[in-house]
Amino acid sequence: MCGIVGFIGVRPAKDILLDGLAKLEYRGYDSAGIAVLEDGLEVEKSVGKLANLVEKLKDKELNATIGIGHTRWATHGKPSDANAHPHTSANKKFAVVHNGIIENYLQLKEDYLNDVCFQSETDTEVVAQLLGKFYDGNLEETVRRVLALLKGSYTLVILCSDYPDLLIACRKANPLVLGVGEGENFIASDVPALLAYTRNCIYPNDGELCFVKREGITIKDSEGKIIEPKIKQILWNAEAVEKNGYEHYMLKEIHEQPDAFRRMLKNRLKDGKVYFEEFTWNKEQAKKWRKIHIVACGTAYHSGLVGRTVFEKLAKIPVEVEIASEFRYREPMLDEDTLVIAISQSGETADTKAALEEGKSKGCKVLALTNVVDSAVAREADYVFYLQAGPEISVASTKAYTTMLLAQYLLAIYLADLRECISQDAYASLVHQLTLLPQYAEKIMLEENLKQLAKLAEEYHDTENLFFVGRGMDWAIALEGSLKLKEISYIHAEAYAAGELKHGTLALITDKTPVIALAVQGKTYDKTLSNIKEIKARDAKVLAVVKEGAEQIDKVVDKVLYLPAMDDMVMPILSVIPLQLIAYYTAKDRGCSIDQPRNLAKSVTVE
Ligand code: M6R
Repeated sequence: MCGIVGFIGVRPAKDILLDGLAKLEYRGYDSAGIAVLEDGLEVEKSVGKLANLVEKLKDKELNATIGIGHTRWATHGKPSDANAHPHTSANKKFAVVHNGIIENYLQLKEDYLNDVCFQSETDTEVVAQLLGKFYDGNLEETVRRVLALLKGSYTLVILCSDYPDLLIACRKANPLVLGVGEGENFIASDVPALLAYTRNCIYPNDGELCFVKREGITIKDSEGKIIEPKIKQILWNAEAVEKNGYEHYMLKEIHEQPDAFRRMLKNRLKDGKVYFEEFTWNKEQAKKWRKIHIVACGTAYHSGLVGRTVFEKLAKIPVEVEIASEFRYREPMLDEDTLVIAISQSGETADTKAALEEGKSKGCKVLALTNVVDSAVAREADYVFYLQAGPEISVASTKAYTTMLLAQYLLAIYLADLRECISQDAYASLVHQLTLLPQYAEKIMLEENLKQLAKLAEEYHDTENLFFVGRGMDWAIALEGSLKLKEISYIHAEAYAAGELKHGTLALITDKTPVIALAVQGKTYDKTLSNIKEIKARDAKVLAVVKEGAEQIDKVVDKVLYLPAMDDMVMPILSVIPLQLIAYYTAKDRGCSIDQPRNLAKSVTVE
């Protein structure tokens, strides 16, 4: 969703702000703008892509060395130049960029700003106008007075024309990161905007005020006491957020999966044993858990559907998997013997965060699986397992999904061992299979296989409706395959439990509804084959995804995709990869905007 950048230094701010905003484009946005401080505030904004803003600024000579920038994803008011950030106060002393939502903005308008002529329909402008109204020469006091009135969530960066050497930033339940440079400092809502300039970062806490100057950063707590910031080193380098020769981030990220598996396995396996130094669980604790609730959204939720089988089978704990936005409204039965696992690539998803909070309020321990260090979900959880998949830029999640799967396998093995419900042989064999994953994943992405997948995708060029079917873990993978296809190719795709089709949905199957059938799991192979025959009897074209060596299938379906054969248990991590690639090639064939699909944002920070 929205993105924020801020810069103060000796170089021209304009270029650094635009570059930072470009690095945040992936989050999804519909307008952009910057404000810099020359003799007075200079603001330029434009609806649409960042290129429009760049074009507007092309011939504008701006030498300012301090400024703020924003990419907006509309919540209050349609996408337009006027609604784009930064917003300014009527007296033109303040410019503000904001991520999040000011819930009481209408009330604040009524209570304090009746006499002000607003330039936009946004909630954010209220903050700028309040600052302008209350300002009496003491900037810190004014900011604190305004913050005390705000309800909702925010990251704010404030530029005041009376203070050419200072940016003020603060957060409440929204991400904020400060980049520490030499003689220059940076502000962003997300690390990719900073990586080209510094890897030394500070993650302020809710309620702290950050005073960012050229020569340094001062952070004060809510009482005004100065606190010593912790500087963390980001492990990603600037290249991690470039395409590195790939046509799209999505394709790059699909190809990064084997290395992401290797990294996680290297960090989590020692002498054939799974270990998590950061958890202080012992046997007694692990045996105490009577239930796991997995809460997540979208792709992360789909990973939980695979995780359910893995935890139940290995660690023998009953698992419920729930769409995070539904979780708390159902009043789930939770207690201190329940472990809540919140899964979120971004760690910012508002629904997942709310579900995590629901779990905590009921006394559950919460474990977060996330890819983003110090993200909201990571901060609030009792335990954190970082996926270390590297930055995922494409809106369509791929490597985050498969690393979420691998993470759950490792956790399940770890718990199974602590709960003494896995034999040594089974433990060793599973760990061995997991160590083979990277090379098997690479096999799927050999050049000749990619060509085959691109060719298969051509079949779906004009498709309007498509079905994915499967049973058990194959069904969970079918759900993820269908989400990938929907979100980037805009083809209506539905995933169905293969055995459930005949209870109604079979009525939709015709020669115009191609079907991708997953029949990877041995246990359900024969049954799925029967379901595929039912589909074939209705003239649908079927592509079957099976393990190498699968019998009879080639006589039943139109096309077969053979996957390298591993143990059924770990196959889901492999079998999703061709589905990601089919979605990718189909979207490419249809000329879609692959990395930034319409209407979608990378992190969804509204409920
Ligand atoms: O950052 P999260 O993992 O919490 O995001 C959850 C979903 O919004 C996300 O997985 C979404 O479904 C993706 N666009 C799927 O590719």
